[in-house]
Amino acid sequence: MEIVPSPTGLGATVRNVDLGQDISLDLADQIRAALDIHGVLAFVGQSLDDDGLKRVAGLWGVSHPHPVAAFLGGTETVSVVFNDAEHPPAEGGDSLFHTDYSFTSQIPDIAVLRSVTAPDVGGATTWSDAAGAFRRLATADADLAERLRGMRATHDPGPRFRHEMEVRMGADLAGRADEQFGAGSLHPVVAVHPRTGEELLFVNAGFTRSIEGLSADDSHDLLQQLFGFFDGDEQFEHRWVEGDVVIWDEHRTVHRGSSDFGTRRRELHRCTAGATAPSR
Ligand SMILES: [Fe+2]
Repeated sequence: MEIVPSPTGLGATVRNVDLGQDISLDLADQIRAALDIHGVLAFVGQSLDDDGLKRVAGLWGVSHPHPVAAFLGGTETVSVVFNDAEHPPAEGGDSLFHTDYSFTSQIPDIAVLRSVTAPDVGGATTWSDAAGAFRRLATADADLAERLRGMRATHDPGPRFRHEMEVRMGADLAGRADEQFGAGSLHPVVAVHPRTGEELLFVNAGFTRSIEGLSADDSHDLLQQLFGFFDGDEQFEHRWVEGDVVIWDEHRTVHRGSSDFGTRRRELHRCTAGATAPSR
């Protein structure tokens, strides 16, 4: 296994590993250790199918269906991200930095995404380092960092997500899902990584709506300030080629998909593994 770290400090490209072959426990441990260091690992030139995707994700934890799909009785653990001329990518939503499912009480430990169809232009995914963001914040303003360590924030799916559910599953099912998920979850603003112990800035523009105990204006202003710390240099961008597989740490990073590929077809299949409540 050859690991080429990104010069930004987040992410690495991995060569000389065929994820379609049987992965030994030793190699699985090496990959997990590399993920603890780099946060995101891009495996280029792979040829996994969905069964292979599930097998790879299963090396590091139990896979669950998307929480909304599970609530509606679904058992399929592969989620499909799909856009074409009839389903163009929307602004907002996935194009904002987010942690998958942070509106629920537990988030996945890792996610594995494989490219089925990649647009010839655009459609990159970018990750940002939540540990690096908190380090930078604490260096710039130690008092703010200390205040944030005692705060909690509400994450909820938001109006756009509700609208998408209505389009996909109709008003009736969307209404039931909204009763279950609409209120969201309360999470610490500064979480501690369950494996590495690093402090993480655990807010995201996609799902974090308000900070507990602050006025609406103060909460909005502070969240905007915090979101700004993810726009630093510690990012990793992956431009998809068909077959590529990217594995990332959902605690350590936030991610966003670029919606700059117009009406081109883009299809990615995702499988997550593990589930842990963010805590400190
Ligand atoms: Fe996502």
